[in-house]
Amino acid sequence: MAAAVTRLWRTPPSLLHCRSLHVTLGAQKAKTGTEQIWLTRQQRDPYVKAAHAQNYRCRSAFKLLEIDKEQKILQPGNRVVDCGAAPGAWSQVLVDKVNSLGQDPAVSVGFVLGVDLLHISPLEGAIFLSKCDLTDPATHRKIIALLPCGEADVILSDMAPNASGIRELDHQRLVNMCLSLLDLSDVVLRPGGSFLCKIWDGGESNLIRDKLRQRFQHVKTVKPKASRTESAEIYLLAKSHKNKKSSN
Ligand SMILES: C[S@@+](CC[C@H](N)C(=O)[O-])C[C@H]1O[C@@H](n2cnc3c(N)ncnc32)[C@H](O)[C@@H]1O
Repeated sequence: MAAAVTRLWRTPPSLLHCRSLHVTLGAQKAKTGTEQIWLTRQQRDPYVKAAHAQNYRCRSAFKLLEIDKEQKILQPGNRVVDCGAAPGAWSQVLVDKVNSLGQDPAVSVGFVLGVDLLHISPLEGAIFLSKCDLTDPATHRKIIALLPCGEADVILSDMAPNASGIRELDHQRLVNMCLSLLDLSDVVLRPGGSFLCKIWDGGESNLIRDKLRQRFQHVKTVKPKASRTESAEIYLLAKSHKNKKSSN
């Protein structure tokens, strides 16, 4: 188990938050000071506790809930692509917000498509493309084929690569991943649609902001309280996708 904990410690903070719920806290003996600090932080984290209590697959659910509460991105009936969806907490939130199970007969029924490099355990109300790389055009073609009318109202990304620990390199890798999602948005996002992506803040953040401004009417940076203050993680929210032809 110590080996597993070590592996988690090397992953980026955002992933640690997610994987944490798959570790039975307190059940193992930490071997190093670093592992002990990590376990203690997880045990004390109110969002980890709340995720357990509310049956979310990981604490990141609260980031999306908070962003949506303040920014009003999600509506019943929306068709949403959840990029970097494993283990599936954002998709759990989405199923409820867009009414993809049709549980509220008074509003439209939405659609949730989650995609990840990793396996994503099934979730009622969502369709998952597991073991798919979102930087690969073949994955984009699969997404288009699965979306109703090949179109999405919202693209969300909580994607994060495994961190090398070299801040600028990790920043650049995540920026490149987001750039490939902009290619996807050019093809599938309806005019008026929204785009939310996580980046680790750094030298290329303004490049992404500029590219978003070319495509969307409104672009802002958000940092939910559930995102740890010591993390470089921020979210870029872009609303009102311009007409596809004028965005290129
Ligand atoms: C922070 S986790 C996402 C947590 C998710 N939002 C949730 O609430 O459960 C980041 C995810 O991005 C995925 N990821 C990283 N690179 C990817 C890529 N190129 N294509 C697809 N998914 C990727 C990782 O496998 C990981 O599951």
